[in-house]
Amino acid sequence: MKDIRLRDDEKRMLQGEDGIVAQKSMEWLVEMAQIAGAEELVNLDGTGDFHSPWTTMTVHHEITFDELKALADAGGHFKIPTFANKSPFLEESPIHGWEHCNMCAKVDPACRRHDDPDAHRDFMHDEWYEVYRKLGMLQSHSCANYLVSTYPPTLGQHCSWNESSAVPYCNAVLGARTNIDGSFATCYLGKAPYYDMHVTENRRATVLVKSDRLIQSNIEWDVLGFAIGEECGLAVPCITGTAKPNTTQFCKLNAGMNTGGAVRMYHIPGSTPEARTVEEAFAGLAPKRTVVIGESELRATYEKLNYHKGNQVDMVYLGCPHLSAVDMMLLARKLEGKKVKVPLWIMTAPWLYSVARDQGYLEIYEKAGAHLFDGTCMSAMGGVPEGVHSIAVDSAKQSYYISGCYPDEQFDVFYGTQDDCIDAAITGQWRGEWR
Ligand code: F3S
Repeated sequence: MKDIRLRDDEKRMLQGEDGIVAQKSMEWLVEMAQIAGAEELVNLDGTGDFHSPWTTMTVHHEITFDELKALADAGGHFKIPTFANKSPFLEESPIHGWEHCNMCAKVDPACRRHDDPDAHRDFMHDEWYEVYRKLGMLQSHSCANYLVSTYPPTLGQHCSWNESSAVPYCNAVLGARTNIDGSFATCYLGKAPYYDMHVTENRRATVLVKSDRLIQSNIEWDVLGFAIGEECGLAVPCITGTAKPNTTQFCKLNAGMNTGGAVRMYHIPGSTPEARTVEEAFAGLAPKRTVVIGESELRATYEKLNYHKGNQVDMVYLGCPHLSAVDMMLLARKLEGKKVKVPLWIMTAPWLYSVARDQGYLEIYEKAGAHLFDGTCMSAMGGVPEGVHSIAVDSAKQSYYISGCYPDEQFDVFYGTQDDCIDAAITGQWRGEWR
């Protein structure tokens, strides 16, 4: 493995002169940099997020609770603004609305007792979060912290984010720079391995994507994203033949691309900030490949994501990625005066839960028989409510993950527009199709 060029402050940390937490964090970063083939670390000036409370991904570098607490008590803090990804409370159960999720372990308040083994983990997490708060973590508990943080990074800033659907938002939509490496170590030290998306040359497009169908609706962006991911893998696409995406559509595109493949960066000339033209996106070089994702490819991708035998829908899930305040307002408009027949779950970020409550959306949802949850997602909750064998979703990412996370369940998955999903919640039947 390559040697990493370290600055003086980094060498001091490695030798333990800045304490045990800095030392373990630096060891982790050096190892990560070596695995990635990076030659040095970059000083971060943007933001970070990671799946707390875990301090590292390996036991070898694990930082203990006592070490962390001692650091917080001594005035230590994250070097960059750091946000919490989804909630890990009790199998990632929701922070608000959990009493409606009808999943036995979570509806029983005894689960939150400290003498219950699960509740003990919850209790432990509470202690961890107290310490994290002291260290400066902003506890957004969302896969879409960029929608709720009120502090997005700016053009060219180096970040360390951890959520796959969020990373293209950082790189492509904001023009900031991140790999999928958000961790305690990167956020605490304000440093990350310098490779891939931190390096200007790696951000230019290599694949030209064309569509013969004007991409403009939410589901078109969602399906296009998944199809691009499958086609491009790790490459950087330049996407043409689309209308201008709004924020919701960017979120859908990003989540789809990093599920169908691992697209961390892309350009849509005229919409994303790093390239005004196709030529600029390719930095004057020729595309290595041109890919057409048109009518027939989009239909084929849709059919792949919409897999079911019958038409009976047991429940509906909306909110992947977590819904924004605008998404929730529009959804409230659609649900006002309606009544659902099968459970309709809506997922958002905890900080937006109170917005939904204050603006009256929560009341509208509940009158319609729907439930709002926050801080987690269906694929992360360790299962689905008993008796649910078929689920309708409006997200390519959720469609893919729901069967991947629970492979024994053999779900029927209905995938379509939000309107198709609402219709399914009201009738209990699926009538969606690719249009
Ligand atoms: Fe977020 Fe879960 Fe979707 S983490 S992006 S809601 S799969």
